[in-house]
Amino acid sequence: MTSDEIRSRFLNFFEKRRHKIVPSSSLIPNDPSVLFTTAGMQQMKPYYTAPENALRDFGTKNTASVQKCIRTVDIDEVGDSTHLTFFEMLGNFSFGGYGKREAITLAHEFITKELGLEISYVTFYKGKGVVDRDEESKDVWALLGVRDIRADGDDVFWGPTGDSGPCGPTTEIYCKNTDGQDVEIWNVVFNQYFCEASREQLDKGNTTLKKLDVLGIDTGMGLERLAATVQNKKNVYETDLFGNEQSREERIVADHVKAALFMISDGSTPENTGRGYILRRLIRRAVRFSKQPLKQEIEKIKKIYQGVYALDDKGEIEKEENRFRETLSKGLKEFEKGTDPFILATTYGFPIELTLELAKEKGRNIDLEDFNKKIVKHQKLSQTSSAGMFKGGLANHDEKTIKLHTAHHLLLAGLQHVVDKNIKQRGSNITEERLRIDFLFDRKLTDEEKKKVEDWVNEKIKLGLNVVRKEMPLKEAEKIGAEMEFGAKYPDTVSVYFIEDKGGRAISKEFCGGPHVSNTKELGQFKIQKEEAVAKGIRRIKAVLL
Ligand code: ALA
Repeated sequence: MTSDEIRSRFLNFFEKRRHKIVPSSSLIPNDPSVLFTTAGMQQMKPYYTAPENALRDFGTKNTASVQKCIRTVDIDEVGDSTHLTFFEMLGNFSFGGYGKREAITLAHEFITKELGLEISYVTFYKGKGVVDRDEESKDVWALLGVRDIRADGDDVFWGPTGDSGPCGPTTEIYCKNTDGQDVEIWNVVFNQYFCEASREQLDKGNTTLKKLDVLGIDTGMGLERLAATVQNKKNVYETDLFGNEQSREERIVADHVKAALFMISDGSTPENTGRGYILRRLIRRAVRFSKQPLKQEIEKIKKIYQGVYALDDKGEIEKEENRFRETLSKGLKEFEKGTDPFILATTYGFPIELTLELAKEKGRNIDLEDFNKKIVKHQKLSQTSSAGMFKGGLANHDEKTIKLHTAHHLLLAGLQHVVDKNIKQRGSNITEERLRIDFLFDRKLTDEEKKKVEDWVNEKIKLGLNVVRKEMPLKEAEKIGAEMEFGAKYPDTVSVYFIEDKGGRAISKEFCGGPHVSNTKELGQFKIQKEEAVAKGIRRIKAVLL
């Protein structure tokens, strides 16, 4: 059975059983609190709290999809037989249309009858705090004749994704692969609750669960793993969704290039922050592990998905590849010499993740704390280029902060342009919520001035101007008149950020360690919230991005 046949069998099975087939959503989600689409339920999220809208939008309370997904939490595992960065998720969903018994029965029927697989064992949630032990699921499985039914803990509690969302206990289905290993095939989630905070906060006990009005169903089955089982293969790379890659290196290249190709096709571009940074990192990692140019790999993947997904990277992967090859070879030499990771990162552009990975391979120790300390000093903002960000968690947080950072530069330029060209910055403070700038000026701004500044900044955002970083000697930066903070001390070599108009002229140039967005269009709507005095001759503006 080809993977294409598995996709259509899955969708047909659920369509026949009164589910509306919904196309995959983009890998770049609408939800700003997550970087990528990581599960089929993400585009369905709003319906769990407003099931009546499902009827309005789909004509039924039940849906099914094959969803493109990106997950980077398991990146270190990529290369084994099951873990991937890009995968497709087969899922059926219900917003009050059916309950646990039906959901489990449907999954059982699809696995055992439609696909003819044998279930090795299943799990159910053993309960914790306000969430009861899931006796109902256990009983349904027993009635269906499954003998090995195991109670499990946190691993079988799903969600929430992003900064809030539905969540609840799950039941998982395991099948044996050809090596006799048990592989998790399907995760059937019962969204019984809504959580106002992230999973991290929930696990820390910092939030409470609210019972949903109706039970939600959310299921997810990885196509690649399923194909390996159905096609009697030892691992996902031997299925028709890959090219039979054998070594760990080849597998990493195949996975990462595939993920990059899908991400770019959905509108992502390599950047230094947020989502674009993850893409950049995947391409760079592929470059490191690939013995040959990535072109061949790109063509191979396009062929595999021909007729299923339209993939086009517009040459972006090769552009990034070319940029990185030089950095890589220089950086590797420096790494061998034992050069400090901070110098590797800042002078040679050699990412800390790569240093960490190489060190692990060579059994060398890296003092990450020392690196982070130095980088915080260097950049003001820490997490962007550190390993922590890549693993998720802080990423979103950073993205907002980074945007405000660029807005801060625009605001200073706007003040100088609209109010007084002699305005100087005196201090700044940026959180993920808002920016704050203190500047030397001796009177209150008028409402008209504030409005004009706001309009000026918003116009620059709309124009989609490039934000460019250049390293230069302090003397030169002073000569070109780059903005510096009044009274601050700077090293001999500094980094200056330029925001350039379409003619390449700088509308803003400022001493700054960054990071910044690469184009102003990423910022959204800029708004001044408050303008006030903080001391004689010093004014303060607080502003936000909507
Ligand atoms: N949302 C669940 C998962 O992704 C089904 O595992």
